[in-house]
Amino acid sequence: MACSGIPRSPVILIVILLLLFYVVGSSASGASESEALLKFKDSLENNKDLSGSWNNETTPCSSEKANWVGVICFAGKVWGVKLEKMGLKGVIDVESLKDLSNLRTISFMDNSFEGSLPDLSKLASLKSIYLSNNRFSGEIPPQTFQGMQWLKKIYLARNQFTGAIPSSLTSLPKLLELRLEGNQFIGRIPDFQQKTLQSINVSNNKLEGEIPASLSKMPVTSFSGNEGLCGGPLNQCESESTKKPSVVSIVVVAIVVGVALVIIGIVIFILNRRNQPAASSVEDPPISSFQKKSGIKEADEVSQTSEKSSASKKGENMKLSFVREDRPESFNLQDLLTASAEILGSGYFSSSYKAALLSGPVMVVKRFKQMNNVGREEFHEHMRRLGRLRHSNLLPLVAYYYRREEKLFVTDYIEKGSLAVRLHGHQALGQPSLDWPSRLKIVKGIAKGLQYLYNELPSLIAPHGHLKSSNVLLGESMEPLLTDYGLVPVMNQEHAYELMMVYKSPEYSQQGRITKKTDVWSLGILIIEIMTGKLPASFLQQGKGSEEDLANWVQRVVPQELNSEVFDKDMEATKNGQREMMKLLKIALSCCEGDVEKRWDLKEAVQKIEEVKERDGDEDFYSSYASEADIRSSRGLSDEISFP
Ligand SMILES: *[C@@H]1O[C@H](CO)[C@@H](O)[C@H](O)[C@H]1NC(C)=O
Ligand SMILES: *[C@@H]1O[C@H](CO)[C@@H](O)[C@H](O)[C@H]1NC(C)=O
Repeated sequence: MACSGIPRSPVILIVILLLLFYVVGSSASGASESEALLKFKDSLENNKDLSGSWNNETTPCSSEKANWVGVICFAGKVWGVKLEKMGLKGVIDVESLKDLSNLRTISFMDNSFEGSLPDLSKLASLKSIYLSNNRFSGEIPPQTFQGMQWLKKIYLARNQFTGAIPSSLTSLPKLLELRLEGNQFIGRIPDFQQKTLQSINVSNNKLEGEIPASLSKMPVTSFSGNEGLCGGPLNQCESESTKKPSVVSIVVVAIVVGVALVIIGIVIFILNRRNQPAASSVEDPPISSFQKKSGIKEADEVSQTSEKSSASKKGENMKLSFVREDRPESFNLQDLLTASAEILGSGYFSSSYKAALLSGPVMVVKRFKQMNNVGREEFHEHMRRLGRLRHSNLLPLVAYYYRREEKLFVTDYIEKGSLAVRLHGHQALGQPSLDWPSRLKIVKGIAKGLQYLYNELPSLIAPHGHLKSSNVLLGESMEPLLTDYGLVPVMNQEHAYELMMVYKSPEYSQQGRITKKTDVWSLGILIIEIMTGKLPASFLQQGKGSEEDLANWVQRVVPQELNSEVFDKDMEATKNGQREMMKLLKIALSCCEGDVEKRWDLKEAVQKIEEVKERDGDEDFYSSYASEADIRSSRGLSDEISFP
């Protein structure tokens, strides 16, 4: 593999030269290679497998033959180190490896290495790096691979890397294979221009935006499991705008939309003039940017062509249904369609748009594509039920729109956004990370909201059904607001199975059923995510097979022996709160109990969560406070009180 593409005879020549070199110089370099490798071994934890052969009795290599386990030799020199599936931990001592001047390949796949990626740029001659299936985490600095001009293969899959894909990967002149799947990379895929690149896999990350054109020939599975990706082999991007468009792109979009609106407006005006009497043209919507962005068809465009529908039927079809008595109808579908819109997110499950109504309010419109499972009456009935729900930890439904092939849900816009973004994207957005008291408050609020759903929707097997961090929004005072609840009965089955949280539970993957305790399992997963700051990769995976991963994820993220290392490094912990933090984590683990019979029911889980305090001990002191909110507001003061 090292010599592919080079004509045969020079290869033989090189081999002969190297062999000659070996005969002359082997004894000296053998010793220093031994030293380097032994030093390297000392930096590894759990290196029992190496103790048998890695010692001074032999040199690592004699000619082509390797004397030491996991060493690959070429011409009597250490060419590669391949230590896979050995349960290795500790540090990868790059400094020692640097002394192996012929080292071209390293593999430490399927071990338990943790922490940030070692500084590989010191090993500038490497041709391949295999580090998949470990527990490496954190961001990879953009310049990490700078100058590694021989690198052909990089395997970093199934670790816990976060942040952007390092841009220096795009400057590797020989890059052939890149495997980054199953991490938590965010942002856009950088522009890979290398003609050498044969395969890339970035599936199951948190990437978003348009796939660079240079990668459009790669298979779909190279990109799947990234809810925010579009273009290339995937679906066409719906719009230019992303969550945080640049000023330039906003201006460009604004101009394009503006011009388009004028043109379309004129066309519509002319068409209306021609087709309809003057009275009804007043009612008809001028085309809008929400409508344009979402691509929602004019109501009954279809039925108009098939049959001339009566005016009254059309009126009904065009109507938003408002579900809340305390929120009188303050806008209609036309207002919504003409509102200026911004895409908040777009996925397989739903797309959301932020729509700023001309009359002032800013609403979120969620558009569900896979919801024609139930008939009109049943749907209306279910929506009325959801509309009656009222709790300080639920984001209320304000209105909905029903057409057979189109469902829109309208809610208020929540400025602070989702818990998922706050947990995993706060650095990119320049927000502070959440401290322990805030996280505890969020967990308690989620539990309360869930408890309420269980009380109010007793006929649903999984009253929430899709509990995950992106479905928890954060209100003004950081109180959690659950969204996307109560949808299991109205989702199309085949899509529900692939996408909704409850169908990723162990009971569903093992026995094909969900139970009243399945939301408890999702709650456990969510709390673990909140406490560890780790994002379950399989949230992002589509389709079957991901259930397995989510159950395993718990084991991967939370080690058998619990210690404070497991907590999110970004979590500012109170000095006196570690015991309670551990208590909450253990509650989460109990919620994730695979055996449904043994798992707590929701009531028990909520009770246990309620018992968790912000600080260890001193229960009397804190019980004098009325609520968690009071404790929060007193924090400024109580931080200065030292507790024995
Ligand atoms: C192996 O040899 C090196 C030098 O040749 C020496 O420094 C080291 O102590 C030896 N190690 C053992 C375990 O004998
Ligand atoms: C990418 O990785 C995923 C997950 O491991 C796998 O299912 C898929 O087949 C891979 N695709 C390619 C093109 O390697």
